[in-house]
Amino acid sequence: MELLQTRAALREWRRSVQTRLGFVPTMGALHEGHLSLVRRSLAENDRTVVSIFVNPRQFGANEDYHRYPRTLETDQRLLESLGVSVLFAPPEEEIYSSEDEALISMTRLSRLWCGTYRIGHFDGVTLVLTKLFHLVEPARAYFGEKDFQQLRIVEKMVEELFFPIQLVRVPTVREPDGLAMSSRNAYLSSRGRAQAVALYKTLQYIQTLLPKYRLVSDLLREAQQYLSERFPEVKLEYLAVVDEYSLEPMVHIGQTGSPRALIAAYVEGVRLIDNMPLHVPD
Ligand code: PAJ
Repeated sequence: MELLQTRAALREWRRSVQTRLGFVPTMGALHEGHLSLVRRSLAENDRTVVSIFVNPRQFGANEDYHRYPRTLETDQRLLESLGVSVLFAPPEEEIYSSEDEALISMTRLSRLWCGTYRIGHFDGVTLVLTKLFHLVEPARAYFGEKDFQQLRIVEKMVEELFFPIQLVRVPTVREPDGLAMSSRNAYLSSRGRAQAVALYKTLQYIQTLLPKYRLVSDLLREAQQYLSERFPEVKLEYLAVVDEYSLEPMVHIGQTGSPRALIAAYVEGVRLIDNMPLHVPD
């Protein structure tokens, strides 16, 4: 595996290979969730490029950019053992300059849900991915359903901006108790870790409520009550049932569209997100 840290080195390597590439963009601190994307790419492409770049533009001023876990050497060893061809891990100045003006913005999708609370977050994601897609020129790129809004935004961007890239959705990888794997889980104490399962449990609870309700608002009220009674230390940011294509809130269970439950909550000051497709009973 080659570790490349400049655009020039990546471009040179890219010119030397004719095959179609699989690409897995990440911010590092790799866990089994990331690795499932990498394994999928390795199985479906001749060569796989992984990027590790903690993207400053997608963090708000009061967010965890500076303390975000950085474990490049361990990540590098892991990717090498799996059979990745190139790890692209550029320093910030290879990606951004203080004179940059470009902005890539998805107007509606980026303002919903997480976008309401993390102003500018998805603009940072779409900008960095545009840059990385141009540098890597992959045939396929792999994204986790764990970050479902991000996935929909990238799908829409690739479609609208004619990127010749096939996006591949990879299901969420979970801990044995159901907690979605995340680099941010490392911030939690053992007490917080026990509370963090609340997100998954609430999503599961919503699924069990489906036969009981017609109105989404009634269902969400009961689910929020479950969350606050069972997990009093968890601070809910939003809980929603949306159509998984538009990400607009659903009003009735059983209306056209595929429902998906989304949740964001704080545990010990750590912001966690999760989501789950819902199956509407006949
Ligand atoms: P990061 O949080 O490192 O995630 C990289 C990729 O791994 C994303 O596609 C994410 O959805 C996926 N992923 C994370 N946890 C997962 C899990 N438990 N199961 C399945 N997939 C999981 O998302 C980002 O980085 C950044 O926003 C990025 C796309 C790299 C742009 O900077």
